[in-house]
Amino acid sequence: MKMMTTKKVMTNSTQEHAYVPEHINYALVEDTRPPMYKAMKYWGRKPHNIWSDYITHYCPADGVVLDPFMGSGISTFESLRAGRKIISTDLNPLSAFVVEVLSSKFDKEKFKSAVKSISDAIETDKIYCRHYKRKVNDETLTVYNYIWNKGKVSLVRYKTAEAEGVSIPVDEEDLKKAIEMESINMPYWYPTDKFPQTPSINNNFIQKIGGTTFDYLWTRRNLYILSKIFDLIQKSEESVRLFLMYAFIHTLHLVCKMVVPRGKTGNRDFSGSWGRADYMIRNRSMEQNPLVVFQRSCFDKQGVEKAMLDANKKLPKKKKLNYIDNRHKKLNSSSDINYGVVDIADLGDYVKENSIDFIITDPPYGGLVQYMDLSLVWLVWLKHFDIRFTPDATGEITYKKNITSRSTYKRKLVLAFRNMYKVLKPNHYMVVTFHNQDIKEWNDFVAAISEAGFAFEKVTHQYNKRSGESNVANPYGTTGSDFYIRCKKAEGVAGQSDKMDLNRFVIQRTKALLIERSEPTPFTFILNGLLPDMLQAGYLQPDAPAEEIKKILAPETGEGKTFFVTSNEKDKAGDYYWFNNPASFINHRNIPLNDRVETTIKALMRRKISVRYDDIVAEIFREYPNGLTPDMQGIRKVVAKYANPSSGKWKLKDEVEMECTIHTYQICTLCKMAKKASFEPFVGRREQHEHVDSNTLLVSYSAYKDLGDVLDDYDELQLSRISMMDCVWIKDRKIETVFEVENSTNFIDAIGRASNIDSKKRKFMVIPERREEELKNQDPLFIESFKENTWLYLTFEDVRRLASSHSLSIEDIISVSKSL
Ligand SMILES: C[S@@+](CC[C@H](N)C(=O)[O-])C[C@H]1O[C@@H](n2cnc3c(N)ncnc32)[C@H](O)[C@@H]1O
Repeated sequence: MKMMTTKKVMTNSTQEHAYVPEHINYALVEDTRPPMYKAMKYWGRKPHNIWSDYITHYCPADGVVLDPFMGSGISTFESLRAGRKIISTDLNPLSAFVVEVLSSKFDKEKFKSAVKSISDAIETDKIYCRHYKRKVNDETLTVYNYIWNKGKVSLVRYKTAEAEGVSIPVDEEDLKKAIEMESINMPYWYPTDKFPQTPSINNNFIQKIGGTTFDYLWTRRNLYILSKIFDLIQKSEESVRLFLMYAFIHTLHLVCKMVVPRGKTGNRDFSGSWGRADYMIRNRSMEQNPLVVFQRSCFDKQGVEKAMLDANKKLPKKKKLNYIDNRHKKLNSSSDINYGVVDIADLGDYVKENSIDFIITDPPYGGLVQYMDLSLVWLVWLKHFDIRFTPDATGEITYKKNITSRSTYKRKLVLAFRNMYKVLKPNHYMVVTFHNQDIKEWNDFVAAISEAGFAFEKVTHQYNKRSGESNVANPYGTTGSDFYIRCKKAEGVAGQSDKMDLNRFVIQRTKALLIERSEPTPFTFILNGLLPDMLQAGYLQPDAPAEEIKKILAPETGEGKTFFVTSNEKDKAGDYYWFNNPASFINHRNIPLNDRVETTIKALMRRKISVRYDDIVAEIFREYPNGLTPDMQGIRKVVAKYANPSSGKWKLKDEVEMECTIHTYQICTLCKMAKKASFEPFVGRREQHEHVDSNTLLVSYSAYKDLGDVLDDYDELQLSRISMMDCVWIKDRKIETVFEVENSTNFIDAIGRASNIDSKKRKFMVIPERREEELKNQDPLFIESFKENTWLYLTFEDVRRLASSHSLSIEDIISVSKSL
């Protein structure tokens, strides 16, 4: 992780400290979530390492970060880890609870023994034994769960010493228990709050669960066991109570009537989940044993013990916390974390104007996830545990049919961004995430940011690992990726008056994107490239961007038009868009994106020999941002072509290494020849770090490391392309000639790279003898380009002979070279 990458400068006019960070202009790679973030369910959790990178880049070391929609607290803990102070708040009290749990000191032994005494008390409880113990062949076994089908209990599941899982139809006794449980006497407290008026909880749901209060979310026997565990937690020693409650929270939703059995992989049919963010009873549901789930929530891989040990290890030992809410509004500037239950509408009551160094936040998008409604499953218990955690959803920024109008939602969102704008220091940054799945909300969302006065600086399409890597059905980020919108509190931002008409803009950018990619491109990639561009150019009009963009492209699509569309049967990334007549847009300098990506991956493998897959993806994100990001499966295929997986890394294949050696040897020879011919050789940037022998790198043959130090006639983009050529010969600060060694790679790439050099300059392609026929048989367009750009070719044998002569000139080389 990079630490402090910002520096202070004084602006002349205001004497205000402005920070000039090293910007993040490309997607980053998501790391595996560490245990401390796993012991809790929350919707839309953000990748911790990426947030950490943003925090260290955009908040100075002595600065303060703000996240007023903190959710599960990623920003809180990552700021703390990065040594920054943080103000992290949310309307949902669950967030404050999480902060308190994870920042508390954890005693493993005390926790274990507290869980044991709770377990013992439940194990010997008569009602528990009646419903969750079962005698099988004289052995008393624990029932793990009951499966319900259309309101009737149908299967019972337990484990035996021999079998990992036994699933049998219920018998008379089980049916009797299911009826009998309705009259269980309830001696312990349990929540009886009424369901709020909300579309999340509809009549159909109420009918299915049989009542209008929260206790109906659980079967009577589960409610009994839960209420007893809760009672025991409240009576337990103070030093472990928070952690037990954390495990209890994680248990609640997993033992309610909304749980569905998971697929049958591994022993997963012995666990269920509350998979979708809604209140719904499916036909098939799973009634899980609350004690078993509570114990798992304590000690499993995703349990509290692991989370706490991890949090105690990762977070600084000494930290000062200050809780705030509408009864305690005072921030403490010496606290590391100021956290609490705050409606963003009241942010100004807590945080001073112009006092925040960096805002990173993930606001709600429309009404897609009803955070407060859903969290009530936990909060109805949590508020009884601690009155501070009593929810008040009045200010929630959400859209609910027939309850909160769309315009109220928009107003609240604008106000939220205005409040953030006020508290941010001038010239400082805010990074806001937007979830790609909620694309319909895009327009309101970015309009609210803009109305608040922020200037958009950069939008990065950020791939999400889980969707990109493991969700094979939809690996393209249509569901799982985010936009990271970087804005600045820049006062007096110029208006965007001279905008091009939107239709023209979309068509032009789509053309440019296809030219850049140089290959048929699925619609999702076009959208991912267009949205950031549109936002930066000030186009906020379209109501539903995806559909709107398709509509704009439609008149330009079809026979005889600019684009044509072919359906995509392979995945869900959308239909392919491509030019009807590619040759009128694409020339040889535009190497198809896939080929460029292949070159990058190969070069990286050659440079590093052994690389983590995530590092390869990171390099690709950096070089090919937004609309240029290639598909993830393509990346994996190319990696597998050049490398073998071995102990968690990818290692360069021997044959590739062999080929590298030949390639390196040829470049080295060309450098020696340059010196004989009185030129200064430059070795391509990618090859510079290849080994000529165990002690020497190819760079030691290069007169310059950076072409920018010697060439004056080229702009930065041209220089970066030319720097990718294998060997450039220079004299008097000018390029004399260039060489590309094509031992096995695509000939077209060379032509593309050299297209930034004057077409009249002599260029040489160096190939092994075995490839002569292949070169001669390239398509006519290639041959034409080869000749037009003054290319000649030499074989390895030609180079060997030239290298052995005492003196050398470009004419000598031309005399042995051949044309096509
Ligand atoms: C997309 S979530 C944030 C998730 C978070 N980034 C994480 O990693 O867990 C949006 C959050 O906004 C909160 N929220 C909604 N309306 C709010 C308001 N008026 N004031 C403060 N927070 C609000 C919700 O409770 C929810 O936690």
